[in-house]
Amino acid sequence: MKHFTSIADVQNVDQLVEQAILFKNNPFQSELGKGKKVGLVFLNPSLRTRLSTQVAAQNLGAEAIVLDIGKDGWALEFNDGVVMNGDKAEHIREAAAVMGRYFDILGVRTFPGLTDRSEDYAEILLQSFIKYAGIPVVSLESGTRHPLQSLADLMTIQEQWPHSHKPKVVLTWAPHVKALPQAVPNSFAEWMIQADVDFSIANPAGYDLAPEFSNGVSVFHDQAEALEGADFVYVKNWSSYEHYGQVLSQDEKWTFGQKQLSLTNNAKVMHCLPVRRGLVIKDEVLDSKNAIHLEQAENRVYAAQSILNELLK
Ligand code: CP
Repeated sequence: MKHFTSIADVQNVDQLVEQAILFKNNPFQSELGKGKKVGLVFLNPSLRTRLSTQVAAQNLGAEAIVLDIGKDGWALEFNDGVVMNGDKAEHIREAAAVMGRYFDILGVRTFPGLTDRSEDYAEILLQSFIKYAGIPVVSLESGTRHPLQSLADLMTIQEQWPHSHKPKVVLTWAPHVKALPQAVPNSFAEWMIQADVDFSIANPAGYDLAPEFSNGVSVFHDQAEALEGADFVYVKNWSSYEHYGQVLSQDEKWTFGQKQLSLTNNAKVMHCLPVRRGLVIKDEVLDSKNAIHLEQAENRVYAAQSILNELLK
């Protein structure tokens, strides 16, 4: 593995999940990180990704160094050939190249702007870090994907499903007050399509994911129909891909509560966090035994650890 930016970078997904579970059972079994430095650069806020990746690096014996570049670093220019006479003090060409000289692995979080779809989906920011850092780069969530989250999600589903038949997994949209990226649902769909599960998506009209992420997946615009018999329900808001970055609906009928849960096969309910209680998922579900969002968050450490371990090999 040269970089980790999507499932396409993984040679053997089953082996990766197996390794993550092994790390959960014995976090200190690998010392591949000894003497190595992992830089974690955040252009946007984070709680779980930041902390779990730091813990993961430390479990491997590596030192993790975090820079909140959106807050503490120089504002970065990503365009070439510009006269930098505005508020951007440093070009990505120098910033990433310098980081490449300090670290052995670089983790990068860059949210999409949600105004220019082709720019966001070209992953210009993440690709610029890869181009100029010259070391392995791990996506800590980019414009279109959140692969560390998806690996932890797949690991969680496997842990929670002891049966030999495929679980029915439904990704459902839920309302939100802000325009959120499509990275988590895109990525989850990408990983579920490759997993041994029966996967479908529920979202209101106008919220279909980009075709490259939902190709071949059954998409329901009727949430109740989609939830019938579900074993796992992944609840998440995202803004429109079609009407790019727009909030088209705040329909609270899509808020996931006991009413929705009762349609399922006593489903395990997932969310990547942070979750807005009462708006996205009701307390009655989040505080029930069906909710496994904290298990997902815990598994973020071991998902990150298995990826860093691969890159350190
Ligand atoms: N799920 C997730 O990535 O959480 P953070 O945004 O807090 O890192």
